[in-house]
Amino acid sequence: MTNIWPRVEAARDKVTHGTGEGSEFLGWRDLPKTYDRDEFARIKTTAAEIQKNSDVLVVIGIGGSYLGSRAVIELLGNNSSTEVIFSGNNLSSIELDKTLKKLDGRDWSINVISKSGTTLEPAVTFRILRQKLIEQYGEKADGRIYATTDVAKGTLHDLATEQGWTRFVVPDDVGGRYSVLTAVGLLPIAVAGVNIDELMAGAESATAETTAAGTVPAIDMAMQYAAIRNVFLEKGFTVEVLASFEPSFAQMAEWWKQLFGESEGKDGKGILPDSMIFTTDLHSLGQYIQDGRRQIIETFINIAKSPVEITIPANDDNGDGLNYLAGQDLSFANQKAYEATALAHSEDGVPVLSIDIPAITPREIGYFIYFMELAAAISGYTLGVNPFDQPGVEAYKKHMFRLLGRED
Ligand code: PA5
Repeated sequence: MTNIWPRVEAARDKVTHGTGEGSEFLGWRDLPKTYDRDEFARIKTTAAEIQKNSDVLVVIGIGGSYLGSRAVIELLGNNSSTEVIFSGNNLSSIELDKTLKKLDGRDWSINVISKSGTTLEPAVTFRILRQKLIEQYGEKADGRIYATTDVAKGTLHDLATEQGWTRFVVPDDVGGRYSVLTAVGLLPIAVAGVNIDELMAGAESATAETTAAGTVPAIDMAMQYAAIRNVFLEKGFTVEVLASFEPSFAQMAEWWKQLFGESEGKDGKGILPDSMIFTTDLHSLGQYIQDGRRQIIETFINIAKSPVEITIPANDDNGDGLNYLAGQDLSFANQKAYEATALAHSEDGVPVLSIDIPAITPREIGYFIYFMELAAAISGYTLGVNPFDQPGVEAYKKHMFRLLGRED
């Protein structure tokens, strides 16, 4: 096997110098430093307006147009009186019916997000929900529609301009899966009461090329991560499981799966990104990891400090035999379960790595998001693909539109 490091360095240079394929989509790279302050202020004002007039904000979008905001909100929690819910990410009548029922008798607004404006799932959902909004609010409905669209073109852009809806933009040079730190993610996240200044500050700290003594810049860690993934892929490990011991991390893992899956899975190449929530999945898929086919590398997300303390009580008769845990915090047991799992899996030949997140705060999550974006770009270039396109997503759409009878 050849030394991978020169390839990783070349990949890093493509990202930092903008010399690789797809470099027109590198806008996310400088975003934490150069983001549009006026639009950011408008996002905060609009979020406050929505919080004031809506019990529910329905975010309509699919793929990169919803996964990031959903991930951040589920991990950090919804701290506002407005519930943020997600729709338009499938074509299921059962799901849409549940959403419609949730809105009955409540004040609500829509944030419809689509860069192309032609994606069927959000477009058809928007048509149905807009109709309901008009039935409830009449001509005032337009004041409750917030559209996040392409800067200058597309069906949704044109509709929003025509109808006078409040509009935010997906920058031209930022692709869907790299867009969580734009209005795409920031408006829903702000409505949920998450501090978006802190989120951006965390992402900005990950852009630093030099850091305090004893710490490693995010770009260097991203290079190490890219190297490890590609080395193991070349050894035949074709699946990477992102494993977390926090169920509220599940949606962040979905965001990560899209980021790496769409960035790398092309030209017959790429690691299949998968995710598991432990200890839950240790009682199902844990068997496969421990004992099944050796094709999996495992990346643990180690959240060093739980924000919640729950002490395990002592019990006089110790009938359940758990007094050896009395006085310990439940998160101590969770931490030991992580250490034990990493040990057990690595002893059986599973390559194991860990990414530490010091705490579940907007700042740390902003850092994590930017770190993963960097890693996906560097890893994709190391693999030899364009990490910013997604040609494979079009294939099903072509057949679907034909089967649905759309005339082009
Ligand atoms: O990462 C991507 O580009 C995709 O996942 C898109 O975000 C997704 O297909 C939605 O596209 P659009 O925003 O154009 O509706």
